[in-house]
Amino acid sequence: MKKMLIAGNWKMNTNSFESEKLAEYICGGLIDKQLKSNVLICPPFTSLMTMNSILKGSPVKLGAQNCHYEPNGAFTGEISVQMLAHLHCEYVIIGHSERRQYFFETDEIVNKKLHSVLQAGMNAIVCIGETIDERQSSKTFDVLSRQLMIGLQNIDASFCKNIVIAYEPVWAIGTGLAATSEQVQEAHFFIKEELLSNLGNDAMEIMVLYGGSMNEKNACELLSLKDVNGGLIGGASLKGDSFLKIIYTSEDVLIQ
Ligand code: PGA
Repeated sequence: MKKMLIAGNWKMNTNSFESEKLAEYICGGLIDKQLKSNVLICPPFTSLMTMNSILKGSPVKLGAQNCHYEPNGAFTGEISVQMLAHLHCEYVIIGHSERRQYFFETDEIVNKKLHSVLQAGMNAIVCIGETIDERQSSKTFDVLSRQLMIGLQNIDASFCKNIVIAYEPVWAIGTGLAATSEQVQEAHFFIKEELLSNLGNDAMEIMVLYGGSMNEKNACELLSLKDVNGGLIGGASLKGDSFLKIIYTSEDVLIQ
């Protein structure tokens, strides 16, 4: 049976009170469910501390949206992976296209962050994906290949079980226009092949999520694709009902 991870990326939304309410609502919808899917929420840093008591006893895991690669020091405004681990975060999203676009994160920085997340014993969700210009000029696979090659440079294959890749075409994020099933399956197949050739058979443990306007309506089609192991969900994860429906859909897909 394939592994599935349904991850909510709340981005810069919800204050700590709103985060608590949303997390409580999601946990409430999962009570007494024996989930086969893994479920994760990634609230803003300011909400991480209070999440532990809410998520305790639920199947929902806690993740952060970013980190710095140094353990501590004079990096005003930054948060280290050690600080996140102390708050029982199990996952960190790295290399999201918004960080690449607005905060100038390069593949080299993504690689440093990946090393530091894995060394701290946490799981990393590494985001990759092409812009619309790159797709239209037939550079999609070159871009994915480069992002994987540099982003995962010098990572030991024994860490594969702690790595998740999120394929997020930049043009599909927050636009309401998800990639088509054909585009997603083709990209995921390519990513899995690249991972196998870069890291060997251990790479079969790496889940590849799709992200970009996934919602309760298109989730079934996207999650059913052979090489899709879940979703990284932005907008729809801020609506408790929509996020729960995507989780239930993932369960249905796994049972089929
Ligand atoms: P979206 O965001 O679901 O709102 O498109 C996905 C993401 O950026 O991870």
